[in-house]
This record gives sequence, C-alpha cells and structure tokens, in this order.
Amino acid sequence: PFLDPVPSVPALYSSFGFSILAFVTTLYLVPALGPRFIQANLKGRDLLKVYSTPIPESQGLVCASVYILSLILFIPFAFSNVFADRFNNQQKFVHGLAIDEFPHHQLSVYLSSIISLMMATLLGFLDDVFDIRWRHKLPVPIVASIPLLMVYFSERGNTNVVVPKPLRPLLGSLINLGPLYYVYMSLLSTFSTNGINILAGINGSEVSQAIIIAVSVIINDLLYLPWPIDWRIPLHLLGNQTEVSGEIRIGGVWSAGMAHGSRVLVERHLFSLYFMLPLLGVCTGFLYHNWYPARAFPGDTLCYLTGMAFAVVGIQAHFSKTLLLFFLPQIFNFLLSCPQLFGLVACPRHRVPRFDPNTNLLHPSTVAFERPPSVRTSSTLRLLSLLGLTRLTKHPKTGQILEATNLTILNWFLVRLGPMTERQLVKVLCVTQVVGSALAFVIRYGLAGLVYDG
Ligand code: UD1
Ligand code: MG
Repeated sequence: PFLDPVPSVPALYSSFGFSILAFVTTLYLVPALGPRFIQANLKGRDLLKVYSTPIPESQGLVCASVYILSLILFIPFAFSNVFADRFNNQQKFVHGLAIDEFPHHQLSVYLSSIISLMMATLLGFLDDVFDIRWRHKLPVPIVASIPLLMVYFSERGNTNVVVPKPLRPLLGSLINLGPLYYVYMSLLSTFSTNGINILAGINGSEVSQAIIIAVSVIINDLLYLPWPIDWRIPLHLLGNQTEVSGEIRIGGVWSAGMAHGSRVLVERHLFSLYFMLPLLGVCTGFLYHNWYPARAFPGDTLCYLTGMAFAVVGIQAHFSKTLLLFFLPQIFNFLLSCPQLFGLVACPRHRVPRFDPNTNLLHPSTVAFERPPSVRTSSTLRLLSLLGLTRLTKHPKTGQILEATNLTILNWFLVRLGPMTERQLVKVLCVTQVVGSALAFVIRYGLAGLVYDG
C-alpha cells in the first residue's frame, strides 16, 4: 500500500454520470439544432460528395456548450469530500492548530482550466465565422494558456527535464529549463489546437482523433489510480517520474517521503479524468452525426476546444511530454505540412484529397506550379519525393516540377496506399492514431527505462 486514501475518488462516479448525460445531450442537440445553424448561415458544403446539400457547420459549438456546462455543474461534486467534512463538523489540525481545509489550489486549477477552454471555444467560433488568418490566430492559444501557466507557477511546478543517460556526461542528469519550460507549455496549446485543425477535411476525422487521444489519456490516468487490485502498474515503472510535487526521484526508489507525492499524482490524474470523461462523452455523441456521410460538421470550434482540453490536462496534471506522444500523427502531419504552412510551397485554401465522382474514390490532391518553382522549393520537393512523402509530376523533357501532391498525412496515405473511399481513408486515419497511441505507451513505459534510469 503506497497510497494514503484519496477521498475524492467517489467524485469520479459523478463525473462518469455527467459524461453519460453529456453524451446523450449532444446526441440529441446536434440534429435538433442543425436547421438553426443553417438559418444563421453556419453551413458548409461537403467537398467530397456529389450532392451539395448544405451541412450545418461549427456544431462543435454545441459540444463546447454541453462540455463546459457539464464541467461547471461538476465543480461542487469535485469537492464533495470537503462538504462531507464540514457536514460532519470535522476540523483538521496541524500541530494543534485548526486549518482551513478547503483546497483553494484545486479550485484555481479548475477555474483556470475552464477559462482557457472558453477562450479556445471563442477563438474557434470566431475562426468559423470570420476565417481568421493564420498569423492572427496563432498567438491566441498562447494567451489562452496564461491562466494555466500561472497556476502551474503558483504550485512551483517542475521546470526540470531529466537528461537521457547517453547525454549525462555532457549535460548532467537534470537541466532546469526555467522560463523556457513555460514557453514550451504555451506552445503546446498552439500545437494541440492547430494540430487537430489541419488534420481535417474528411468526415469524422477531427472528432475521431479527439476520441482516440482522449481514450489514451484516460487509460494513462487510470494507471495512476489507487486500485485495490494488484494490476496497477509496477512501481519501478514509475521510477523516472520527475513531476512529483517538485520532488525529483530518479532511480526508481519510492521512499517514505513519496507517500505525499503519490497522493498528489492521484489527485492530478483524477483531475485529468474529470476533464477527459465528459470530453469523450460529447465527442462520441457528435461522432454519430459526423461519421460518413456527415450530417454535421465540427468546424474549427471543435478542433480548438478539444486541442485546448488536451493542453489543459497535460499542463495541469503535469504530463505534457506523455501527452505529446499521443499526438504522433499530428506531429508527423505538422512537420510534413511545414513547407506549405511557411510559404515554401504554395498552400491552397483546402488541401483535402480530390474526389472522383465517377468511381467514388479519393485521390491525392495537388498543387500546380504555373511558373518554374524556385531552387529551394524544388529541392525540398525532390527530397520529400525521394522519401516517398509526396508524388511529383515532372515535365517529360526538362524534368521541371509541374505538380506536387499536397503535403498532408491524408494525401500521403493516398500516395502510399492508392485511391480509396472516404470511409476507408478515415478508418486508416483512426488505425494510425490507435497505433500511434500504442507506440506512445511503449515509449513512455517501456523504452523510457533504456534512456533513463528506472
Ligand atoms: C484546414 C486545412 C485545409 C482543409 C480544411 C478542411 C490546412 C492549413 N488547412 O483548414 O487544408 O481543407 O481544414 O477542414 O491544412 N469539410 C468537408 N468534409 C469534412 C469536413 C470539412 O468537406 O468532413 C469542408 C467543408 O466544406 C467545411 C470546410 O471543410 O465547410 C471547413 O474548413 P475549415 O475548418 O474552415 O478549414 P481550415 O481549418 O481553415
Ligand atoms: Mg478547420
């Protein structure tokens, strides 16, 4: 028994209840409000279909409202143990002095998270309505993460990173990144929001990514709960846990002093569960309507909401590096997209695959070069093509690049695996995301022991 009892576990049951409620509400509200969205001109055309019936867009707003409302209604339940203590008139004493037992810190963790989620929703919705430019919307998630960072700072959050064994002779075993660590955390929110938004455009893609990442985070959280049964993860695997209430333990020794640390760990992962379970609820409810053929579009609102929710739990529950591992497909898609995002290769408004109405199959979409591309552009494209990441069409005589497939993971699947239907492509994406998460667990709990002590 390495844990003192954590009284807030029962709140988990109410969180579970709220999540089911959130699921049912979203399932009902999305189609019920669809016509109102169309009336308000929040509609889009499904680019990969023969029909052009308007589809309600930005219905992530419904998800966001249900999600944030569930979180707000849940706050009193999260502190149910405090109510119980007050009701039983129990005072806590430290060295004979009565102390105020209300966990103000946890409340600020909650409230700051909700502020960040609201800002993300606002940004996403404004983006849906006004199509905000790249350079204008990039800094917003950074600003939205300030409340989170402040709370992290207030509890003297860890800013050390453990150096992998091979580099220790050079750098020592720990590096304190200090303010740079805060820069990294604020960029995390920009990455997670945009990472989901640019891996989009086929039915079900945005929300299924969110669901698989949420499930991965939930599984990771469950590993830290004080299970009565013995299949919790062996302690030595937690050996290189570096983020335990500011204490650093390397070498896998859980000394007596860690009892408090373990409790803090449990509380943090419970917090993460309280935010992930209702997210899973609303996303699953929405998936039902967004799955091929989509009757509702998530819009940027859902992409920003889900991305920010992941940043929130990664930062507040101190597992941002593990979280990033669940974003492997998004990291790949972002790196592959860089030449287009940063202007080296032209970036059309939509980079979704090309739909062939005759065969109902998707093909990689392309960007055409009317004038010969610059030396830098063509050498980048040639390198990417050599790595099998894009397919080039060249002038038969001069060898000049005429066309390149758009640099996204979806087009890459089509380049490598050949044309397929939209339904198949979204399944390929889901499988990739699941494999990515499995790999993340192997890296986090298996391979970490090779490069770190543990
Ligand atoms: C991002 C991508 C863009 C992609 C778009 C698709 C980058 C830099 N931007 O832009 O390449 O085309 O997402 O969402 O990579 N749509 C469908 N089917 C779907 C979902 C969306 O056809 O399943 C279409 C609809 O017309 C919808 C529109 O995409 O109205 C939404 O695009 P929007 O989210 O505004 O695009 P961005 O996020 O700016
Ligand atoms: Mg979008």
